[in-house]
Amino acid sequence: MKRASVVLALALVIPLAAAGCSDDDDGPSIVVYNAQHEQLIEELAPAFTEETGIDVQLRNGKDLELSAQLVTEGEASDADVFLTENSPAMSQVEREGLFSELPADIVAPIPEQFRPTSGLWTGFVARSTVLMYNTDLVDESELPTSILDLAEPEWAGRISFSPTGADFQAIVAAVLELEGEEVTRDWLQGIKDNGTVYDGNNVVLEAVNAGESEVGIAYHYYYYRDQQEAGEVSDNTALHFFRNQDAGAFVSVSGAGVLASSDNKADAEKFVDYLTSEAGQQGLADSYALEYPLNPAVKLDPPVEPFDSLQPPAVNVSELDGPAVVDLMTEVGFL
Ligand SMILES: [Fe+2]
Repeated sequence: MKRASVVLALALVIPLAAAGCSDDDDGPSIVVYNAQHEQLIEELAPAFTEETGIDVQLRNGKDLELSAQLVTEGEASDADVFLTENSPAMSQVEREGLFSELPADIVAPIPEQFRPTSGLWTGFVARSTVLMYNTDLVDESELPTSILDLAEPEWAGRISFSPTGADFQAIVAAVLELEGEEVTRDWLQGIKDNGTVYDGNNVVLEAVNAGESEVGIAYHYYYYRDQQEAGEVSDNTALHFFRNQDAGAFVSVSGAGVLASSDNKADAEKFVDYLTSEAGQQGLADSYALEYPLNPAVKLDPPVEPFDSLQPPAVNVSELDGPAVVDLMTEVGFL
């Protein structure tokens, strides 16, 4: 038996070497299905590998693509860790029973409202909904009190958004959770009638900044990232934060979880542990991303609006219903 397993091991090693695999075959390694912005995780993963010696293989995709893939693959999946941009994709995998519970000390640094009570995954970074507005075209006094107001006739022809993206769909999921189906359907119909659709949140920002559209719905970081660079597509733009627990003050969390089917659970947990730790959160804060760290020990520097000032509505991160949002948006003709 011993000889057979040695032969088998050699048979497995040789094809990898022949394929020119540059990884250290002997070292520990995890597979991360990553739906967060690629650049962010590509900045973070090397620091984790340096600290732990665990190699990270990224398989990049979009939130709902990768959650659907995990559901299809089930027990047979190669994935050890799943990372998303927004939480509806995490909830989908959670509902299918595919996550393994995270040790309490790994999730402890993250405030309770930003992780499910099940302990099956955790938020690790957050993004605030904002209204980007062109400062030449919109006076501060005109800004809406609620994101629901954008469905009113006074906003006809003035608003824009990227409805095919997971970001916008998470915002709709929050409206649905907070306001119910009737209100959400009417709101979607209203903003569809009033709005212009673009493909991508950066394109929405460009349209607002160029005055093609007066206001656009997105997350905070699209504006701040451009400001941090040259401000080329944001210098005529400012951000309106809705606050007051309005649906438009929704804070969306990016999730991290370990798959129950993982053969490398201990190493996968180390990766999630790193993401929630002060070192990992500082790495997130220091990256290009300008998404909000969730560990209260770490803060973003000005000019980013302070996380403590956002006054988001209370939303159960496990209740955001991605498939219901897709149905409603299809019904209204967005998708
Ligand atoms: Fe995004």
